[in-house]
Amino acid sequence: MSIVEKFLSMDYGPALEDPKEALAWLDGHKRRFGHFINGQWLQPTAGEYFDTTDPSTGEVIAKVAQGSDADVSAAVASAREALPPWQSLTAHARARYLYALARQVQKHSRRLAVLETIDNGKPIRETRDIDIPLVARHFYHHAGWAQLLEQEFPGYAACGVVGQIIPWNFPMLMLAWKIAPALAAGNTVVLKPAEFTPITALAFAEICHEIGLPPGVVNIVTGDGRTGEALVKHPDVDKIAFTGSTEVGRAIRKATAQSHKRLSLELGGKSPFIIFDDADLDSAVEGLVDGIWLNQGQVCCAGSRLLMQESIAEKLVSKIRARMETLRVGAPLDKAIDVGAIVAPVQLERIRRLVEQGIAEGATCHQPSALLPTKGLYFSPTLLVNVHPTSTVAQEEIFGPVLAAMTFRTVSEAVELANNTAYGLAASVWSESINVALHVAAQIKAGVVWVNSTNLFDASCGFGGYRESGFGREGGREGMLEYLEPAWFKQAKPLPQGTASAANQKSSDELGEKSESSTPAIDRTVKLYIGGKQARPDSGYSRAVKGRDGQVLGEIPLGNRKDIRNAVEAARKGEAGWAKATAHNRAQVLFYLAENLSLRRDEIAGRLARAVGEKQAADEVNLSVERIFSYAAWADKFDGAVHNPPTRNVSIAMNEAIGTMGIICPSEAPLLGFLSLVMPAIAAGNSVVAIPSEVYPLIVGDLYQLFDTSDLPGGVVNIVTGRAAELMKVLAEHDDVDAVWCFGDEASSATVKALSAGNLKQVWTNEGRAIDWFNAKQAEGRWFLHHAVQVKNIWVPYGE
Ligand code: NAI
Repeated sequence: MSIVEKFLSMDYGPALEDPKEALAWLDGHKRRFGHFINGQWLQPTAGEYFDTTDPSTGEVIAKVAQGSDADVSAAVASAREALPPWQSLTAHARARYLYALARQVQKHSRRLAVLETIDNGKPIRETRDIDIPLVARHFYHHAGWAQLLEQEFPGYAACGVVGQIIPWNFPMLMLAWKIAPALAAGNTVVLKPAEFTPITALAFAEICHEIGLPPGVVNIVTGDGRTGEALVKHPDVDKIAFTGSTEVGRAIRKATAQSHKRLSLELGGKSPFIIFDDADLDSAVEGLVDGIWLNQGQVCCAGSRLLMQESIAEKLVSKIRARMETLRVGAPLDKAIDVGAIVAPVQLERIRRLVEQGIAEGATCHQPSALLPTKGLYFSPTLLVNVHPTSTVAQEEIFGPVLAAMTFRTVSEAVELANNTAYGLAASVWSESINVALHVAAQIKAGVVWVNSTNLFDASCGFGGYRESGFGREGGREGMLEYLEPAWFKQAKPLPQGTASAANQKSSDELGEKSESSTPAIDRTVKLYIGGKQARPDSGYSRAVKGRDGQVLGEIPLGNRKDIRNAVEAARKGEAGWAKATAHNRAQVLFYLAENLSLRRDEIAGRLARAVGEKQAADEVNLSVERIFSYAAWADKFDGAVHNPPTRNVSIAMNEAIGTMGIICPSEAPLLGFLSLVMPAIAAGNSVVAIPSEVYPLIVGDLYQLFDTSDLPGGVVNIVTGRAAELMKVLAEHDDVDAVWCFGDEASSATVKALSAGNLKQVWTNEGRAIDWFNAKQAEGRWFLHHAVQVKNIWVPYGE
């Protein structure tokens, strides 16, 4: 046989990882695990266990405790008790614990990798080279944040007891993404791993014990969705961090609405993988192998929608099909396997169903010729072509090794298709032209964009979604902020009873709706302000506004659902130009606004005085000038960062506007409160629909005159007056609103959170607490700006 013949006939032999040590570890625990609570292994109170299995063989690996409400309560109590001593440690001491966790993970990395592979079905090549090294990196990085906590986050305090719920696709990595920042910020934790993959979380519990982490700082409770639900609903939990399906994320948003729990959600995706005709096609195909076949495609940010420029589509499809032939599907412990097993029968069934549906809806299906193993849960790498952009497989997250391909002609069509999804987690853009790649990256609505690369992660770079992919970030500075709150805010008192607010709606009588009787004192009639124009309300009704002395000060229109809808439409139009305006332009407009307010200081204060008294009115106007100045100053300074992950990439972290925001303004400071919220929102490039204070909504008349004379483009700020409680609901439910800020009483905050679940818009509220709008330390600055932006990380490779 010639060398060439030999070469061509060569095949892979088995290269099985020896699982002996991992199995011995499982045997050491008698293949039966309780919960890890207060540093001890506790049997479930209800005595219930479930099996966790190896998806590549169907064999049971171990029995694991099903957590009941009582188990969750015990874990939360343990975390609560551990909180004060954990927080009384120095930042350095906490940093050393995190460092010890990183080191211990490294020391046991091979065992952890094997356990992960056995429990999840993902190839050992991935757990050994990606998952576990990234876990260690995450703890190292956050050991650093723990050390720097006081220097880098002065005035901030930890949220407290944090409940964390993670999925099965990257079991240990998701654990690290959750636990490392929480501990670094000084929180204690109750974590629930996914029911399909609890083993590495239990191995991590043992590591916590081994390094002597104080009992109760990390608690692990296993179980299914019911256990997760108990944790979400537990009244003594201060924050919930969740990664998983959008459906459950939505349920958690609703379940936490009535509480003060902070919430971060990392949900599903349908990420575009865009290949332009000038891309290096062979690299792009290799990128696809990682983009959609890593972890069998069970990746929230998988590049599952392939968008190909039409001119190269045919060539590209044949290259992809050729590469698919060489993918090796099989035993995950085999070191030469590319694609392992699907996590569970239910997931395999879901993938099959969706692919069949895709074919029924007109797609052509390509799969490699190799046969799948006869035993275990496998699905062939799959390419669907001729997929229509509106079909199910182009819109729904499949969470399997299935690539849905479609074509585009122009750059703008590519962007439009890329954004044609309710999700916004990630995107991959392939082009040799840096101009095209960055131009596209800037326009894609997603938290991560990889240029000529894919599925790169690092602890220093925030990861998380836009739109229905959730909110909050994991990793980096912004990830730390998810576990911290301004210390003063944690201690702020509830708004005093009787402070007028949206949910605490006064009757129409009290509000003076029967205005005819009060005509003589009226000196002002204002309109709504929509799209840069004064607008009459759809309802045709107005109500009178009374001053402190009971005199009628003027009339305001009673806006309704239709007015809010018009305002949102105008805001969306306004946003397009405003977000693209340079930060310097935005700063100029704001400076000019401050200048114009300053010129009209006395006149506006005079009118405002009749509602809030002379002293407050003067203070509000004076401080408003200053506040607008502050945000004019910030407009071109609240910029992002450049990260240096340990790969040959820079990651550009951009602070991007969220989009169209609804703002329910505080009652207690009609002018200053309005500006304290609307100014940071527009300084960051958002457009706004604002509902002004109920105490003195007539302020809208002064505001729109100011806006009109200060070159603020139409549609950037829209104001709708009326019954705030009703208007607030319309804004919170509106599917084209990207974020709502609600600064009123507790009930308003709960209502807005509950109603926001439809499109999972970001919600920020004062939780019904009093904010001192006259104190810049509370009412101004980075805390506000942070809530007005979402970070997009654009990864750009460099080097030879
Ligand atoms: P899931 O969202 O139901 O599970 C994720 C975690 O949430 C698990 O720990 C689960 O026990 C817990 N959970 C379930 N119901 C809960 C509830 N009501 N309250 C609190 N916690 C609850 O995801 P599942 O069922 O495992 O997968 C279904 C689909 O979700 C997948 O096919 C995939 O499309 C998507 N998914 C997306 C993930 C992502 O990272 N974006 C991760 C896992 C699944």
